[in-house]
Parts: sequence; C-alpha cells; structure tokens
Amino acid sequence: LWTSKNIIDSSIESVREQVGNEQVVLGLSGGVDSSVVAALLHKAIGQQLICVFVDTGLLRLNEGDQVMAMFAEHMGVNVIRVNAEQRYLDKLKGVSDPEEKRIIIGNLFVEIFDEESAKLTNAKWLAQGTIYPDVIESAGAKTGKAHLIKSHHNVGGLPKDMKLKLVEPLRELFKDEVRQIGVELGLPSDMVYRHPFPGPGLGVRILGEVKKEYADLLRLADDIFISELYKHDLYHKTSQAFAVFLPVKSVGVTGDGRRYEYVIALRAVETIDFMTARWAQLPYDFLGHVSNRIINEISGISRVTYDISGKPPATIEWE
Ligand code: XMP
Repeated sequence: LWTSKNIIDSSIESVREQVGNEQVVLGLSGGVDSSVVAALLHKAIGQQLICVFVDTGLLRLNEGDQVMAMFAEHMGVNVIRVNAEQRYLDKLKGVSDPEEKRIIIGNLFVEIFDEESAKLTNAKWLAQGTIYPDVIESAGAKTGKAHLIKSHHNVGGLPKDMKLKLVEPLRELFKDEVRQIGVELGLPSDMVYRHPFPGPGLGVRILGEVKKEYADLLRLADDIFISELYKHDLYHKTSQAFAVFLPVKSVGVTGDGRRYEYVIALRAVETIDFMTARWAQLPYDFLGHVSNRIINEISGISRVTYDISGKPPATIEWE
C-alpha cells in the first residue's frame, strides 16, 4: 500500500541496510529533492549524514540562512555551509553568454563539492536527490539547456579519487510523492511546495554579465513579488514566478528628482510539464501594487515590466 509513511519506513530500513554505520555525504541545495533526502537520511542515520551546502551568492533573499536555520539549527542535521559568492563572481566576471554561464556555475559547484567531500575522509557514500523523472530524463537524449537541468546537483560532484558509492532513496518516486514524504517528515509545506528554482539560480535571471550589485537588486525585487503572491493567495495559482534583472537603464521621476536606473521584468507562468507554458493572467491591480512597491522601495530600479510571452515561442527563463 502506498502511503507516505510506508514509503518512509521502508526507505529508512533499506538505507540503514545499505550504508550500515558508514558516513554519507549529500549536496544540499535547498530545493525539494535534496531537502527531502536530507530529512529522510537524517531520520535513518542521524549524524552519519553530512550535508554540504554551497552558497553560490546566486540564491534568493536570505535563502542561505533559511537553509541553515531549518536543517542545521532546527533539525540538528550536520551541514557544512560553504560561502562561495566571491568565487562565483570572480569566475563569472566578463561572461555574458547564457550557456557559458551555466557551464561555469555547474563546474564550480562540482569543484567546490569535490573539495569539501575530499575533506570528509570517512565518507563512503554519496546521497543524491535523483527522482524517477530524472532517471527517465537522463536515459533519453536531451539537447540545449534541458540536458543541463540538475546536472550539477544530481549527477556531478562525484569525487574522482574517493570512489563513493551511491545512495538514491527517491529514485523510484514522482515529484508529488516526494512532496508528500517531505511533509510527512516534517518539512514546512512552504518549502516542499515551492516553485522550481533553476540550478544556476539568479545567474540566468541576470541578463548578461553577473554582478553582485545586480544580484542584490534582483533579490529584493524577487522577494517583493513572491511575498505579494503569497499574501494575495496567488502563489499556488502560478507554476513558477520570479523577477528578472535587465541591465539597461531607463528614466523615471520621483518627487522632484529624475532617476536613471535599471529595469525589472516580472515573469509568472502556468504549466503542467514546463515544456509549454502560458503567461499567468495576474490581476492588473496586483501587478500595479507589486510594481509600485519595487520602484518605491528599491533604489536602483526605475521601471517594472510584465512578461506576456508564452512558451513556445519564448522559454520560461529569460536565458
Ligand atoms: P525554460 O526556460 O527552458 O525552463 O522554459 C523550463 C524549466 O526548467 C528550469 N530551468 C533550469 N533548471 N538548470 C535547472 O536546474 C537550468 O539550467 C535550467 N534552465 C531552466 C526553469 O526554471 C523552468 O522551471
């Protein structure tokens, strides 16, 4: 019988049997899959689990602190946080091509994860948040950015000389099953039912070259948009919503002053499979309110636009 409790019990049993008393390392991204693996393994093997959380500096507002608060402080999971913002910024300096940025971000993740796991000389296992659709996906031929999806979270990071064995407790589960298990394991439903967030993070939501100044402005705008969606009960009526930073300047006025500042685009879509998507018909009043808040509260942004492109012909992300 499929109940989340049964799945959890049998996963715990097989993980314990599989890894015995050996140490397991997991790349924790803060996304649903790796979070559920962390919660499950923590329950199964407690302190034998060591999570490595790479803060790329391309995460959403306060996301790094939230991951640490939930797993390390609240649940007592062993988490090593690596603050790698400056390394990412250095590597991305002067790079504006989207695919090149993706490759740099993905490779750097693998590099940092390898460095950290190499220090864990007792680790014998690598846990991954692979779910059933990932198994199917990597079996089929994929082109373009689709094949890079998750590559640096789920399949990279195998340290060359450590010969870690793989443990993938979600390998047979679909996304909605993973979510149910997450809730059953006590993860907050806000995190379990969060919109998908791309592996390269804000790196592909800042058009062109990534700069800290841009990432900081984008984080603030994105946070206003998302928190207003929650407040107006619209978050779960969209499949994915986010802000995009456009590195062009536009003129505006505030009081008696002239502003010449950056532009934010808001994107919200409705979709079942993310292969095609419609732009979400959010209420005008709501969009107006979000736009006012962004322009009034964020010095550096003078204009907000709403993206009304479907997929196809556009993609969901801007890069
Ligand atoms: P697009 O932009 O291709 O996005 O319509 C479809 C879905 O995939 C996500 N996405 C990514 N996820 N790494 C990821 O992990 C990536 O490089 C990447 N590019 C797009 C996107 O957020 C959307 O959910």
